[in-house]
Amino acid sequence: MVGALRAELDAVLRERYGAERLDEIDDDRAGRARVAVTSGVWGVRAEHLDRLPSLGAIVNFGVGYDSTDVAEAARRGIVVSNTPDVLTDCVADTAVGLVIDVMRGLSAADRFVRRGEWAAGRVPALARRVSGSRVGILGLGRIGEAIARRLVGFDATVSYHNRRQRPELPYAYAASVLDLARDCDVLVIAASGGADSRHLVDADVLDALGSDGFVVNVARGSVVDESALIAALDAGRIAGAGLDVFAEEPHVPAALLERDDVVLLPHLGSATVETRAAMTEMTLANVERFLTEGDLVTPVPL
Ligand code: DGY
Repeated sequence: MVGALRAELDAVLRERYGAERLDEIDDDRAGRARVAVTSGVWGVRAEHLDRLPSLGAIVNFGVGYDSTDVAEAARRGIVVSNTPDVLTDCVADTAVGLVIDVMRGLSAADRFVRRGEWAAGRVPALARRVSGSRVGILGLGRIGEAIARRLVGFDATVSYHNRRQRPELPYAYAASVLDLARDCDVLVIAASGGADSRHLVDADVLDALGSDGFVVNVARGSVVDESALIAALDAGRIAGAGLDVFAEEPHVPAALLERDDVVLLPHLGSATVETRAAMTEMTLANVERFLTEGDLVTPVPL
């Protein structure tokens, strides 16, 4: 196990396969490991692989595997799996929750009530309408598509930018992130993390979104230039942000903690009892398949 895994998974891996934590064993024991189980929080990188010469598979708990050096794994002939599909609904639900929360100011209004401001006769500032709004989705993979489907139920006009156009879907394609941001009220980020998407949402994109626009991110903190986001919020160049992910988790910049126009979540997109159980099951199925048949149930493209 590379990094701390959820307790239920850790326990089954230890009991069923004699698994141990890489940071707790010597090189001799590490040298015999055939499978590394990790999660998006940790990942397996070249320095880990150097200690794992017998490794054949990296099994990632989570759909995002940008914390693992997949290119280096492939170079060493190591296969990698993740947990797609089972978390799509919960992450999409979280995105919609953040859209509603940040546009309607729900968390801010909750704080307003708790501070006694309502009881003192004050009223919160008016929020923005979600129903019928223009939603731009950056990354129309499984999760982006599930977000789009949900927001159509709010009569939203959905457009998207994606590495490849998806003409089979009824949403307008924007040729660039800038074009997408220019024509939406809320930019929802559902793109995979990694070098290709790093800082796709930068100062120019935030300016294109404009002072009435909101950003929601349920993907990876690395997709957004966090300093540019803070500067745009400070200057009132965007209206607000709903964030489940951050550049340096679990660190959330102090500048964000102080703001009422942002909603901050601790990377909980997939964190429900049902989904975490399904992710655990899929992770174990991959370990079992590799050890018994030498391949994976849900391999990622290498
Ligand atoms: C994932 O699966 O990549 C999520 O971010 C973990 O909750």
